[in-house]
Amino acid sequence: MIHFIDGQFLAKDSINVSIDDRGYYFGDGVYEVVKVYDGELYTAEEHIERLFQSASKVKMTVPYSEQQLIDIAKELVKVNGIVTGHIYMQVTRGVAARVHQFPNPGTAPVVTAYAVHNPRPMKTIENGVRTIIVDDIRWLRCDIKSLNLLGNVLAKQEAYEAGCAEAIFVRDGIVTEGSSSNMFGIKDGVVYTHPASNLILNGITRRVVLKLCEQNGITVKEETFSPDEALEMDEFFMTSTTAEITPVIMIDGKAIGSGEPGPITKKLQEAFTRQIP
Ligand code: PDD
Repeated sequence: MIHFIDGQFLAKDSINVSIDDRGYYFGDGVYEVVKVYDGELYTAEEHIERLFQSASKVKMTVPYSEQQLIDIAKELVKVNGIVTGHIYMQVTRGVAARVHQFPNPGTAPVVTAYAVHNPRPMKTIENGVRTIIVDDIRWLRCDIKSLNLLGNVLAKQEAYEAGCAEAIFVRDGIVTEGSSSNMFGIKDGVVYTHPASNLILNGITRRVVLKLCEQNGITVKEETFSPDEALEMDEFFMTSTTAEITPVIMIDGKAIGSGEPGPITKKLQEAFTRQIP
């Protein structure tokens, strides 16, 4: 596969990354994952815009324009012949001897990107997944899509060890989001999800779902709910770039609603599928 690093498109095996990259030492960088459907980037502008916002929030500059990053992503799709898959893109604060404070202003950020083939996860989209609840031990800037993912990694591992596909974070008695997804509950026809704040990543798929609800006359309340309230929901689902809209059929061993993907979730899935390339 051909990857992008610092202005060049190179074969993966020929790429050398410095051991002094601050991404390795500190997770000092930001990233995005952009879905590719039928050889076309999906919601690329929104993702690239969020990359710039994440970078700005950690006082990093991205050495390309939004359009240049989109062109890089398009080139990766083309040269790697991606039909269904995704682009991973990251920017680190660059290469410098290890000290915590920012390196010299002249230090160039390191931009890397690659493309992978990745089919839509139809099995879990159709059948749903099981989840567990875990403590949200992450920092208080979950709105930044940063490379610091240890809290997310530990949560996802705990879920896998429990035979589940995702961990649902709870902070101060409130469901925030998943380890790599946003969470939605449906009660009496109303869709609930944590408001966009510093405690969650405002997912691009989350935003698409909010729009689809509006277009389909489904009431949404961006309001918090507790784990107990989550267990009492009629339906539950999670969203992400790669998971799309995946029904959550079980939380901590307890079936949600009928224990099967619910009607509003299915309606949103159909609406989602209609608007992808
Ligand atoms: N993760 N919340 C967290 C913590 C995430 O890591 C993600 C995405 C989301 C959903 O965001 P979006 O709809 O923009 O993909 C929410 C990506 C896919 C990842 O880390 O691989």
